[in-house]
Amino acid sequence: MFAQLKPVATDPILGLMAAYREDPNPQKVDLGVGVYKDEQGHTAVLKSVKEAEALRLNQEDSKTYIGMAGDLGFNSHMEKLAFGAAHQVLLANRVTTAHTPGGTGALRVAAEFIKRANPNATIWVTTPTWANHISLFEAAGLKVKEYAYYDYQTKGLQVEQMFADLAQIPAGDVVLVHACCHNPSGMDLNFEQWQRFTAIAQERGFTPLVDMAYQGFGLGLEEDAAGLRYLADHVAEMILCSSCSKNFGLYRERIGAVSIVSANSQIMDIARVNLLSVVRSIYSMPPAHGAIIVSNILSSSELTALWHQELAEMRDRINSYRQLIIDKFAAEGITQDFSFIARQHGMFSFLGINKAQIERLKSEFSIYMVGSSRVSIAGLNHSNIDYFAKAVATVLKD
Ligand code: LMR
Repeated sequence: MFAQLKPVATDPILGLMAAYREDPNPQKVDLGVGVYKDEQGHTAVLKSVKEAEALRLNQEDSKTYIGMAGDLGFNSHMEKLAFGAAHQVLLANRVTTAHTPGGTGALRVAAEFIKRANPNATIWVTTPTWANHISLFEAAGLKVKEYAYYDYQTKGLQVEQMFADLAQIPAGDVVLVHACCHNPSGMDLNFEQWQRFTAIAQERGFTPLVDMAYQGFGLGLEEDAAGLRYLADHVAEMILCSSCSKNFGLYRERIGAVSIVSANSQIMDIARVNLLSVVRSIYSMPPAHGAIIVSNILSSSELTALWHQELAEMRDRINSYRQLIIDKFAAEGITQDFSFIARQHGMFSFLGINKAQIERLKSEFSIYMVGSSRVSIAGLNHSNIDYFAKAVATVLKD
């Protein structure tokens, strides 16, 4: 039977990680996967995480099963972090949350949940979107279509085309929107655009699915959630998938959450049993470690303050490199306009260079970026930024 299997292409993002690891060039630069690195090029464990892990070691008194919804304390913290502690959807008991193995696990659970609610639902994603969104939803058996989002010419949003596309989407379909730090383009909706998005969602009756993998990496923890909070204020139902990979630096612990917002608490009760039965049929229960770390941090005012500070450091370092890239490119004599880099948010920027140039950067300079020209800015530091700017200048000139 296995002889019938056909080869499949390597994942465009994770494949790059492996290629980078194997590259013997000491000057190699990893701008591929969305993982934060410090000035030394290291992905360190946050101090707040270390302390929360030590607490766990001292306090944990049982390894019994955790239950399908996972850690209930973690779930409550995640709801407050995303919606804000006093949000009406929480006060009205309209939200149910399950902790999941990573943000990807949250998306897969959401996809199976959507199929239960409407097996014919189409899920609409931005053009472009995170490389794994489409294959993940298709693997779950959902139809996937795209709506206009990024404008490759102006390096901004295709605002009017996007709203025209959204205005055609019927009730019963699901529209995926990135909460902040759009992956891969870095171009986010502003608040006025969130308001327009919300008005169309209300009018058409489709269900928004907000993917929030980078809360705190854009403008700040509160600012990055402002759009989804407004949306949740106005629509009857929505889904939120969030991840603690980036903002808590817990990548390999695989910790995220899926929250279902229903029109009222009666529907929420039915949504919850469906959500839990989806979880039971896939992995039964999530692993506890990452959730307990996050919960320990968010239950302690000192650890929360430390985490806020560490998150701000990561955000500020990335943001400082946005202007630095523009300045270094100019210093290398690059005349094309790269000022858009400063208008983008989060871990990523779309450089807008072509496939041949991306390939040359990899083969001649060992500089790795995703084939869409997405660069993970956190991979840059003072030791490699000049090398990077010179290499880009070389491939742009030739
Ligand atoms: C990315 O987009 O680089 C990250 O979300 C990592 C991943 O799993 O693709």
